[in-house]
Amino acid sequence: MRTPIIAGNWKMHNTIAEATSLVEALTKAGNKNQAEIIVAPSYTALAVAAHTAKGSEIKIAAQDVHWEDKGAFTSAVSPVQVKDAGATHTIIGHSERRSIFGDTDEILNKKVAAALRHGLTVIFCVGETLAEREANKTLAVIEGQLANGLKGFTAEQLKGLIIAYEPVWAIGTGKTATPEQAQEVHAAIRAYLAKTYDDAFAQETRILYGGSVKDTNVDEIMAKEDVDGALVGGQSLIAEKFARIINFN
Ligand code: 13P
Repeated sequence: MRTPIIAGNWKMHNTIAEATSLVEALTKAGNKNQAEIIVAPSYTALAVAAHTAKGSEIKIAAQDVHWEDKGAFTSAVSPVQVKDAGATHTIIGHSERRSIFGDTDEILNKKVAAALRHGLTVIFCVGETLAEREANKTLAVIEGQLANGLKGFTAEQLKGLIIAYEPVWAIGTGKTATPEQAQEVHAAIRAYLAKTYDDAFAQETRILYGGSVKDTNVDEIMAKEDVDGALVGGQSLIAEKFARIINFN
């Protein structure tokens, strides 16, 4: 049995005051599935979100980390700093980092190394573009992202890893993968983990679906065998919507 995870990626949204009231609202949202609840605020609100979440079930993730602990890297934020602010998790490899900021597989691999070195739980994102899906390259693309991004690590070192499958064509578009499309890719990711590492690691690794998850479609997505949770963008900014997603049926 894998404990479900409902994670909210706030992206570049929320002031400190907004982050505080959203976390406060979520502490009262209930959690009928005993899911792990994670929110990923901007760096500016990490500390206040962590402070507000103290004593609740809500865990805090950074949206990214740099690969060095400190140094002359203007604007970057290190794993040491996000831990200091109260984060226990970090997203790495979100498609917006890959496509807008040019994070390559090699860079992501260094970021994974840095996060693991500091004991942060990594939420590693993978996903294909629409062109890749239409060219029947979905599974090859995702296997490549996993192989390169996680290169050099054993199952033991990756223990606790969370993978998020986020088809690029479904992010912020209102177009959700069908539960069957999500299940197909999630099962393929689990098979890849079994083949590359071992069966125990494949069985225990949580694989989240992300891409236009809503209060109205979360139940059918979560019903799929290999879908262990959701990584939610837009609707994680709205307390009532995210509360309903946390309390999926
Ligand atoms: P949306 O839920 O807004 O489509 O965003 C998904 C996402 O990118 C979460 O990381």
